[in-house]
Amino acid sequence: MKPERPAMASTLLLSALLRVTADGPSLTICNPAVTPVKYLKMSNGGPISSPSCSASWDLHEVEFFDQHGNQIFATADTTTGSSWRGTALPSNTLDGDLSSYWAGDHDHGLSCSCWSDEKMDVQAIDFTLPEESYLSRIEVYQGHNEFTMLQLRLKCAGASGVYGSALELNASLDHTSITCNASGCASELNTTEQWYCGQQWNDASTSHYPNACGALSAVCCLLLLVWAR
Ligand SMILES: *[C@@H]1O[C@H](CO)[C@@H](O)[C@H](O)[C@H]1NC(C)=O
Ligand SMILES: *[C@@H]1O[C@H](CO)[C@@H](O)[C@H](O)[C@H]1NC(C)=O
Ligand SMILES: *[C@@H]1O[C@H](CO)[C@@H](O)[C@H](O)[C@H]1NC(C)=O
Repeated sequence: MKPERPAMASTLLLSALLRVTADGPSLTICNPAVTPVKYLKMSNGGPISSPSCSASWDLHEVEFFDQHGNQIFATADTTTGSSWRGTALPSNTLDGDLSSYWAGDHDHGLSCSCWSDEKMDVQAIDFTLPEESYLSRIEVYQGHNEFTMLQLRLKCAGASGVYGSALELNASLDHTSITCNASGCASELNTTEQWYCGQQWNDASTSHYPNACGALSAVCCLLLLVWAR
């Protein structure tokens, strides 16, 4: 089923010519270990767990490392906005301080209670490296709270500034380590603890709807009480 190289090359060329969107063949998924990057766009791939519709994503720190493991110092900006201009700025993600953070624009309503798939990518932070570089590792820190994103999307561009398709990754509400090599990128989560609509669960097999569970337990309790009488 694998196309021959010339066929693949012409498909690539055709994709470029036709400006095939993310729905097209995902031939250019971000892999900074294979294609050097200058621009990286990190965006929301899902809801944050705060139940409040006006809440937004908080990103605390991001670190980039080249193929030798040396840290590369980037600059950060956003075209989708910050919640509190002057304080929760994109540059807070690069200041070496895990407590300061960038807060995305509240207007997008990223909470689990008002999420829709069209909101994917509406909150994004743009990193610029000093020069086109290969990356082996990206460390991402969130704040262990309900303003965390458990699905990250990452797009890359070389010096031309033309972004490819998004790499989709699971993230930890604390520390996510993204490592890339020739076969692709993978994320390692330092905790599997998650939150949903402000409620915590620790295990993927647990129901993602703790409110429904709570309601069910309450009904059981009531029945027990009635029976005990
Ligand atoms: C993310 O996690 C889910 C559930 O744990 C898993 O099914 C999915 O394959 C993961 N996605 C990626 C891109 O690793
Ligand atoms: C995960 O990473 C955060 C940030 O570095 C740290 O504070 C926390 O203790 C780590 N948690 C675990 C379970 O290792
Ligand atoms: C490349 O990364 C994958 C995880 O994405 C890992 O399983 C594999 O061992 C790595 N290969 C090399 C050569 O490091």
